Amino acid sequence: MDRKELIKKYIEFFKSKDHAQIKNSSLVPENDPTVLFTTAGMHPLVPFLLGETHPQGKRVVNVQRCIRTGDIEEVGDTTHHTFFEMLGNWSLGDYFKKGGIEMSYEFLTKTLGLKKERLAVSVFKGDENGPRDKESAQIWKDQGVSEERIAYLPAEDNWWGPAGQTGPCGPCTEMFYWKLNDEPAPKKFDPEDDNWVEIWNDVLMEYNKDSEGNYNKASQQNVDTGMGTERTVAVLDGLEDNYLADMWKPIIEKVETISKHTYSEGETIKRAMRIIADHIKAATFIINDGITPSNSDQGYVLRRLIRRAIRYGKTLGIESFTSQVANAIYPIYDDYELDKEKINSELIREEEKFNLTLENGLKIAERVFKNKTQISGEKFNKLMNDPNKADLIGRVFEKRENKKDYSLKNPKLSEKEIDDATINGKEAFLLYQSYGFPIEMIDELAMAKNLVVNHRDFKNECKKHQELSRTASAGKFKSGLADNSGQTTKLHTASHLLNEALREVLKDKNISQRGSNITPERLRFDFNFNRKLTDEEKQEIEDLINEKIKESIPVELQEMSVQEAKEMGAHGMFDDKYGDKVKVYKIGNFSKEICAGPHVQNTSELGTFKIKKEGSSSSGVRRIKATLS
Ligand code: ALA
Repeated sequence: MDRKELIKKYIEFFKSKDHAQIKNSSLVPENDPTVLFTTAGMHPLVPFLLGETHPQGKRVVNVQRCIRTGDIEEVGDTTHHTFFEMLGNWSLGDYFKKGGIEMSYEFLTKTLGLKKERLAVSVFKGDENGPRDKESAQIWKDQGVSEERIAYLPAEDNWWGPAGQTGPCGPCTEMFYWKLNDEPAPKKFDPEDDNWVEIWNDVLMEYNKDSEGNYNKASQQNVDTGMGTERTVAVLDGLEDNYLADMWKPIIEKVETISKHTYSEGETIKRAMRIIADHIKAATFIINDGITPSNSDQGYVLRRLIRRAIRYGKTLGIESFTSQVANAIYPIYDDYELDKEKINSELIREEEKFNLTLENGLKIAERVFKNKTQISGEKFNKLMNDPNKADLIGRVFEKRENKKDYSLKNPKLSEKEIDDATINGKEAFLLYQSYGFPIEMIDELAMAKNLVVNHRDFKNECKKHQELSRTASAGKFKSGLADNSGQTTKLHTASHLLNEALREVLKDKNISQRGSNITPERLRFDFNFNRKLTDEEKQEIEDLINEKIKESIPVELQEMSVQEAKEMGAHGMFDDKYGDKVKVYKIGNFSKEICAGPHVQNTSELGTFKIKKEGSSSSGVRRIKATLS
């Protein structure tokens, strides 16, 4: 089965169960300052999981493009991917455990035809935050799943969310499939056995974690599910290596052609090819969603991905290859609108930039490494897994890893041995700053020689030079919740006023929003326009917006069909072709925009609007940063 067929089956199945299809949102979350990328299908749904009404109803389904950068180092094996497509169905205060589980089971066994004998599930074991999920276990049994195929697991495995610090979360129940075709599934499900592949996760969201860390029963019970397309296709096709499935194979074949190596040649070659395929695919989609390589935020992740792919290209003896690899990606995803020209040109530009310094940088790295004394294998492993050294080695440990006892003295590793093997902050910063090596790449080069990079000092160097953005260095790659605080709500409304003011002042009806990002401190608004704004124009825009604020105009919400919204001249994204109803926010007669909200009730709440910065974002697109005070 290929990805398109699986996606189609999934969406059709849930449509037949009264779910409305919602759009596949951008990889760059709008108005969510706590995250860099969309990491799960639930992400764009956070306001609705918190109780806002969704214009398309209480049952929705979609396929969502996602990026997870947490395990970028693990990419290279058979199952980890940076970019993936997540299938999901949601109950927004509608069905709960019974409905969710029954539909999951029906889809797996009837629609996909997976063998019942090869299915197993896990449910939440219970702890101080929530009881053992006997109810879900019973529902699985009612479907015909035997007790032995149900594992009761702790929160580490069977509690999902909240995605950020606070918000909806709850126990989850996961579905596993026995992947070996020629060996029958054992009677008893052993979650530690890798031959059981997790394919689907149903999160039963009935709690809300508050800022004090308490888990309170939520006002609304939701179901949030996620099925990884890549894994499921691999399982359905009986593949032991995901990279042999249809959404990878042509990319691997392209790398084979360019490099004149074959994938089956050996593990090192395979790993390099997988990394290249994975990273260029992720880069393709990130660029397509409006990001360009840079030294901060999403742009830095993009830079890391492209540069890591290039370095692995070197190990295969290839260069100037990234856009050729991208060319193999486009036909697989022809159901997306991929801007090939833009993607290719960004890839080529970044590759040229990096190539200019790569050789010299590698030489400098060698020189730095030569003066260090490497740590022997076993001791090095110990160091790399020691939570007490987390800030030195630059790792974030999972809670459960912290439980391990690393105080054991054997093998003993002295501070001097660590010092002698450490690339100091200044050395690392030189490679980062002058040769454009992402820190992860310096890490990898060092680790291959059993040396360690001092991340703590590296970060201090960065701070000193204020080059690396706060978010990239702090590892803000985890997912989080939309920040619906008062200030972001106000800025959200202000961006509607700005959108309209731009059209009015610049006298160009074709201006529209190309991107938006809001933090509690400021709004950022991208729009199509091909020259710099003059000081007078900026002043006029500010004046117009402040005038509208003074007029105390009520902000009204209306729900209507896309057709009606179009007819009334509302601005916004009409790409939600599946939606019956959309929300339109009206600010008097001044602005009408399709938007999920939230917004203030009246413009008088906004304060004073000020443009802080105006500049080019990419070709033909300008960017404004503005504040309210
Ligand atoms: N949000 C859940 C996940 O990402 C479904 O696994």
